[in-house]
Amino acid sequence: MGTKGRSIVGMDVDELIGILNRAFADEWLAHYQYWLGAKLAKGPMKDGVITELLQHAADEMRHADMVSNRIIQLGGTPVLTPKAWYDHTNCGYDAPEDPFVRVLLEQNIKGEQCAINVYNELMKKTREADPVTCELALQILNDEVEHEEDLQSLLEDLELMLNHK
Ligand SMILES: [Fe+2]
Ligand SMILES: [Fe+2]
Repeated sequence: MGTKGRSIVGMDVDELIGILNRAFADEWLAHYQYWLGAKLAKGPMKDGVITELLQHAADEMRHADMVSNRIIQLGGTPVLTPKAWYDHTNCGYDAPEDPFVRVLLEQNIKGEQCAINVYNELMKKTREADPVTCELALQILNDEVEHEEDLQSLLEDLELMLNHK
């Protein structure tokens, strides 16, 4: 923990660590949802979808790393067990039970929209109180906005293909 770094935070630090831990749980669940979806995906445009899902899986793990570093800087402990991810998550986990590419894309778009909300709220909460966390939330928000668009444009192409027989 950085003591001076923690002392400049103008809000309840334990509350902030709690919010960051919820985002941390979200990132791991999103990582696994993408990673497993990429293994199982079936259907038209499968190769393009798999490439995108794998890229997003890597990004979500990088986000988990970024968020955990901030939690530790603030003197907190990242959620210690995968089991506890479920107790903390905002966005949940959609198991890729149906491997059809359209279903996977729709599930992950829902996840991205939830993540956009989480980081947008975190930015609002920290803009004045903690610019360091706010900057982190902005970096991740940029990625999540890009992720949503990547998936929606793939879904759009897929729908066009499916509807023009
Ligand atoms: Fe993420
Ligand atoms: Fe994402």
